[in-house]
Parts: sequence; structure tokens; C-alpha cells
Amino acid sequence: MSTPKKRFDELSPFKIVHHDWNRPYPVHVEIDPTSRCNQDCLRCSYKQEIDGARDYIIQDQQETIPLERFLSLVDEFAEMGIRAVTLSGGGEPLVYKNVDKVIQALYDKQIKLGIITNLALPINVGLLSQAVWIRVSLDAGSEASYQVLHRPGRKDAFALVLNNIKDLTQANPELDLGVNFLIQPENETELVQAAEQVKALGARYIRYTPAIATDAIDYPSLFDRIRDDLETCKSLIDDDFHVFVVGDRFDSLADKKKSYNFCYKQQIHPLIGADGQVYPCCLLKYYEKHALGSILEKSFKEVWDGVQRQSWLKCLDVDQCPSCWFDRTNEFMEYLLTQNPKHVDFV
Ligand SMILES: C[S@@+](CC[C@H](N)C(=O)[O-])C[C@H]1O[C@@H](n2cnc3c(N)ncnc32)[C@H](O)[C@@H]1O
Ligand code: SF4
Ligand code: SF4
Repeated sequence: MSTPKKRFDELSPFKIVHHDWNRPYPVHVEIDPTSRCNQDCLRCSYKQEIDGARDYIIQDQQETIPLERFLSLVDEFAEMGIRAVTLSGGGEPLVYKNVDKVIQALYDKQIKLGIITNLALPINVGLLSQAVWIRVSLDAGSEASYQVLHRPGRKDAFALVLNNIKDLTQANPELDLGVNFLIQPENETELVQAAEQVKALGARYIRYTPAIATDAIDYPSLFDRIRDDLETCKSLIDDDFHVFVVGDRFDSLADKKKSYNFCYKQQIHPLIGADGQVYPCCLLKYYEKHALGSILEKSFKEVWDGVQRQSWLKCLDVDQCPSCWFDRTNEFMEYLLTQNPKHVDFV
């Protein structure tokens, strides 16, 4: 049987065409409510010193955005026409003490919500299930490997995550709940097991991605070993379930020259760290030299229009940026903005 072809528009790098490019403010802001976490993942990118250039490890700082400021930020976003917010980390967004109040405030202002979470904690199913999407970082097909990789501090954590997935998909079948699986040597034999389990629980997709790691993982050999299992996973694709293997992350992460001159992505999708600083993108998060100003000291609008961000923009040289997985969005936007591109009639 041939695999049905399905476009997965949710993750398209071309979504920007649906927005006014002259808009002064972002479409989407990602926020780390806290740098605290209920887990201690073996290769958490916010615990490792990946490139030796980060000024500090955010999870050591135990930072948290104060609730009052968070709620006033939601009001500012609504006034500025910001359409969507993703809660992520730095840490685990759902351990933020008043996360329910923040989520309700976003819903009240009709700001669309996405959440990136480990989901290994008791949750408010009714509230969370009204999000547009939730991406669960699972990375395992069994409790044993979950314990090794996530170091959750509770013996039933994997079972709890699966149960939460089931509760959320049952509460709202429209919820786009997907699962992230960072492929690592400790879980490489569990790809199929994980896909089968989450599909049965109503997840919409599973996405396999290599982990960025400071210990040398030989990914080319690892990918040779898992090739057949990935094909088995893909055989689970149907109208309700998709399987991604994020190959282009390998390409993007390989040291690749940029084929564009400016980063458009940072204008439409910036981040706010648990330290209150606004950052241009997730790759530059928690680097002091890329901090654009603090929402703990100013309004978001003041930071956005402020001199600190303007001078960062003046100095922005994409060739100095780290390898980045937003290349396709930037290449596409630069092409769209090109005056008189060559040979347009030879379609
Ligand atoms: C740092 S986590 C924060 C949110 C939440 N605590 C979680 O784990 O989903 C955000 C995303 O980074 C991913 N991530 C963490 N460590 C990574 C690594 N070493 N390489 C690639 N992605 C990583 C996680 O899988 C998750 O999708
Ligand atoms: S759950 Fe998320 S933030 Fe916490 S240690 Fe794991 S990857 Fe890092
Ligand atoms: S790392 Fe990528 S997304 Fe971030 S500013 Fe540079 S080009 Fe833009």
C-alpha cells in the first residue's frame, strides 16, 4: 500500500505569506514563563554549554516572570495585535505557579496558544485542551528509557505523560497534540514503540529529531541503524496521524553558509526569556549580546521600538549567526521582497 501524501501546513516555513509584512509588531511571541523545571533531562539544551558562548545556564538561575507583569504583557500583546503566543522553556512552562491564570488571560484576549511541554505533571485538562496545539517532549517508548533520559524524579512519569496525552485528546479532538522524540543512543530502539503508543492515544503526529549534544553522538551511524524502524514508523501515517523525520535540521545544523542577507524571522517571531529579556530568536536566547531589552523594565512596545533593539538590528550580520533552521523562511521572504527577480515569466 502506498503512503498517503499529506501536507502538514502547521509546520510550513511559508506561513508568513498570510500576514501583512509591513506590520510593525510580531505575529507570534514565544515566552519562557520560568527557567525552573520538574525534570533534569540528560541532554537538555538549556543545561548544556553547547557552544561555550552562552553567558550563563538559565536553569541555574531559577528565573520566573512575575505574574502581574505576565498579565499586563498579555494586555499589551492584545493592543499590539500580536496573534499567537507559545509557552516554552528554558524550563518547563507548566511548572509556572500561575500558568492557569496566564493561559486564561490569553484566551480572554483571543490570543492563540501553543505549548511546548514535557507534560509529566498533573494538569488542568479542561483549560489546556483549549490550546491550538501542544507539543509534548517524550523521547521514549518505555518508562525505563524515559527515566534515563528525562530523570523526572517520579517513577510513573512516562505513564503520567501518556495518560495526560489521552485525557487531552479525548477532551478536545480538535487539539493539535503532537509528540517530539529527540533521537539518542538510549532510545534508538524505541522509535516504533513510541509512535504506536502515541498514535493509539490520539496524538496527531510524532516528530523525530536528533538531539543537539555536547557528548559526541555519531548520528550518521545511528541513522543507519534506525533506517528500517523509521520506515516502520512512516507506515503508521494515515489521515489522522503523521510522522516527521526532521532531516533538514541535520543540514541546517551542519555549518552552512547563509544564502540570504537579512533575518526576517526575528521580526515576526521573537522570544521573551524567563529573565524578562526579549531575544530575536530561540537560537540566540540567553546570550547577553543578543538581549534586546527587558520587559521587566519597559513595555514590550518600548523594547521593540527601543534603541537597544535598533542598534542590534544595525549590527545584525546573518553570516555571524549560528547554524539556523529558519533558513527556508528567510530565503523565501527575501525572494518575495526582491524587486524584479530574474526570469519570472519562465515559470
Ligand atoms: C528546552 S524544552 C522546554 C520546554 C519543556 N520543558 C520541554 O521539554 O518540552 C524546549 C524544546 O527543546 C527541545 N530540546 C531540549 N534539549 C534539546 C537538545 N539537546 N537538542 C534538541 N532539542 C532539545 C525539547 O525537546 C523541547 O521540544
Ligand atoms: S523537560 Fe524541557 S526544560 Fe526540563 S530538562 Fe527536559 S528539555 Fe530541559
Ligand atoms: S540565528 Fe537564524 S533566526 Fe536567529 S537571528 Fe540569526 S538568522 Fe535569524
